[in-house]
Formats: sequence, structure tokens, C-alpha cells
Amino acid sequence: MKVRANGIELAYDEAGSGTPVVFIHGFPHNRTLWAPQLAGLASRARCLAFDLRGFGESDVLPPYSMDQYADDLACAMDALAVGRAVMVGLSMGGYIAFAFWRRHRQRVRALVLANTRAGADTEAGREKRREMIALARERGAPAVADAMITGMIGKHTRERHPELVQAVHAMLASAPVAGSIGALQAMLERPDSTPTLATIDVPTLIIAGDDDAIVSRQDVNAMHAAIRGSRLEVIPAAGHVSNLERPAAFNAVLSEHVERLGMREGGSGKGERHDD
Ligand code: MLT
Repeated sequence: MKVRANGIELAYDEAGSGTPVVFIHGFPHNRTLWAPQLAGLASRARCLAFDLRGFGESDVLPPYSMDQYADDLACAMDALAVGRAVMVGLSMGGYIAFAFWRRHRQRVRALVLANTRAGADTEAGREKRREMIALARERGAPAVADAMITGMIGKHTRERHPELVQAVHAMLASAPVAGSIGALQAMLERPDSTPTLATIDVPTLIIAGDDDAIVSRQDVNAMHAAIRGSRLEVIPAAGHVSNLERPAAFNAVLSEHVERLGMREGGSGKGERHDD
């Protein structure tokens, strides 16, 4: 399905009814990243997974920034009559969730920050982004996929689930080059979200993979310490795409987080429409 937001078309998948949950993919992913979550949570939540601008089947059009991605989501939520939602971001999706919180916090019912960090890129990190931009420009998305695939998936999963490695590689290799370059530049320029952490006052679940080669445990612990009342779940034998590598474990903690919202508000959390 497609929805018009900020003058462009965004592709999205929707499943279920109940508490709205908006899924934000990472780099260079697309909405299919969230297929196990849509399948697993549809019985208790209204799940919406979007292709960000420049990815999947969405329009590939600048400008690209964390703020722009966040505004696109807010606009798409308006169009789909989603008032407040649980915002679930993985990695770059988490960077976007921070921007969304800064710009549209009244739309955030709860947060889920998966395999992500609050800090901006270091100078060394920016240099790597510039190299990745050059690689994308010169050799295309398959070369970016080759460069990223090992870090993207945990060692345990790489050894036991080659079919998942292949599927994730195919997703990365299919990313539009212009959208990928736009996102790399946007991540390179993104602000430090560390000062944002103390302002977060909605229920926040942090999910990490104990085999994540991209986001360090130190960064995760710092984020957990700085978000008041946040809950941290570390998924064993999971790397950077913990939701795909250990979908049952990921869905269990996510479902619990969503159900607790329902209980806090005096409902069962199941089968209700909470898109106020
Ligand atoms: C992602 O998975 O979104 C990226 O690894 C994030 C990043 O490169 O900082």
C-alpha cells in the first residue's frame, strides 16, 4: 500500500488492530525488515511498517535528514488516522525515533529503541560514511551489501542460518543508490541525541543483541542509564538485526511492552483501538 506524505509516496504494510505501533527500519533496509513483527503482533496491535523515503518502494527524493524522515512518518500517520503510537526504531530507525521525539513527542505513546545509540558519528565514523558513499556511487548497492553484511548479522546467526544471511544481503543489495547515499549523508550529519535522553518521559524499552558488532554495549548501557525508568533487554545470540535473528525473543519483549501500556491505562491492551 502507499500513502502520500510531504508530497511523496511512502510504501507501507499494515496488519492487525489495537494499539498503533509504527516500525522504522535501519540502513539500508526496507519495511520487510519488520515482517516477523507484523506477523507476531497483529493479534494485539495495529502494526504499520513504512519504507522511508529513498528506500524500498517509496519515492527516492531528497531532502534526506533524520528530521525529514521523522516528519514524513508524522505526515503518513496523519493520513492514516494514527494519533499516538508506539514508535519502534532499529539502528538508523532509532536515530529517527529520537528526531521524532524532539519534533512530535505528543504523538509518541511509548518508545522501543533496538540496536541503536544516541551519540552522533565520531570523526572516524564520518570518514567511514564518506568511503561508503564513494563505494555506493562507484559500485552500487550490491557492493554496499557486501561491505555491510558481516557486521549486520551476529556470528551465531551467520553460522547457523545462512538462509537469513542471504535474505538480508538481498535486502541491502536492493536498496536504491540515491536513497542510500542520502541516508549516509544524513546519518553523518545527524545531531547528538544524548541531551534528548533526559527529556524522554514515556515508557521506553531498549533492545540490544549480545552479538551486535555495530552498536557497543557501552553505548546501550549509557542510553539505558540516561532514560528514566527505561527497561533494557539483551537478546542472546543476536547481532545487529536482532528482530530478524531472534524474532520470537524480540516479539516477546515487544509484546509485553505494548501490553503493559494497555494495563497502565486500565484496558487489556488487546483488541482495542488506541489511535486517539
Ligand atoms: C543501521 O543498521 O541502520 C546502520 O548500521 C546504522 C549506522 O550505520 O549507524
